[in-house]
Amino acid sequence: MSTARVTVADLKQMKVERRKIVMLTAYDAPFAYFVEAAGVPAILVGDSVGNTVLGYENTLPVTVQDILRHTQAVVRGTRQAMVIADMPFLSYQVSNERALRNAGQLLQEGGAQGVKLEGGKQTVTVTAHLVDAGIPVMGHLGLTPQSVHQLGGYRAQGRTLAEAEELQSDALALERAGAFALVLESIPATLAQKITESLTIPTIGIGAGVHCDGQIQVLHDVLGLNPRAGHPRHAKAYANLGEKIRAAVNTYVQEVENESFPTREHSFKLPNELARALRKETAVPAQDQS
Ligand code: KIV
Repeated sequence: MSTARVTVADLKQMKVERRKIVMLTAYDAPFAYFVEAAGVPAILVGDSVGNTVLGYENTLPVTVQDILRHTQAVVRGTRQAMVIADMPFLSYQVSNERALRNAGQLLQEGGAQGVKLEGGKQTVTVTAHLVDAGIPVMGHLGLTPQSVHQLGGYRAQGRTLAEAEELQSDALALERAGAFALVLESIPATLAQKITESLTIPTIGIGAGVHCDGQIQVLHDVLGLNPRAGHPRHAKAYANLGEKIRAAVNTYVQEVENESFPTREHSFKLPNELARALRKETAVPAQDQS
């Protein structure tokens, strides 16, 4: 069995052959293992790790070190999936040099095959800079969670003619800058279709309708593992693992409290003569018995 990972060229070929590109996020080795085992060809170590795993309100506090650590875990948990590391807030906006250092670290030390950055025209120069250095870059347009304060909340984008036109030209500009794919988040399905048809690189939708070349979802939304956040409109819960965890832990608590766990089956036995010797040693001497 080949252990070569899925490449940028493979994803482009999937667009050509009209095979849907299924993506999910993952943040640690065991979940990444199961995601890959289900046949997902590309995994994003999203800065959504901030909300899903690290307990933050939004993605803004996530650091390069956070993404690095989680990328390493996802890479260790997989063999064939392409692993894309999200570049966190302010890791690529300050200067091209800093962006290159950070992206380079995610590839060199993290083992990622590519990085993702959020934003339109303002990220064209940095995208070209990274691509020139040999780093595959995925763009991210529409609802860009790192700009939540500027956008005034997690709202659908591209719903006016001006916004729609801007998104179309941003998509083309990122393709020209060398991006290998684009995430389109929370934009109208017809606009996503138009953008998808205008590009040679794949579009990966999240809340952008069925006509994108692929779909991505946040793993914890799909698994029903989001205790705090309401369920996002664009996500479908394929399981309710939160409830399963609650029920399992409740049962464990009860069984420990009422001593029905651990049983003999979960305990270790001494060899018989040792057990007898131990019983003798700990027996209360006759003169001490009242
Ligand atoms: O961080 C993330 O999980 C993402 C996806 C929502 C595309 O950027």
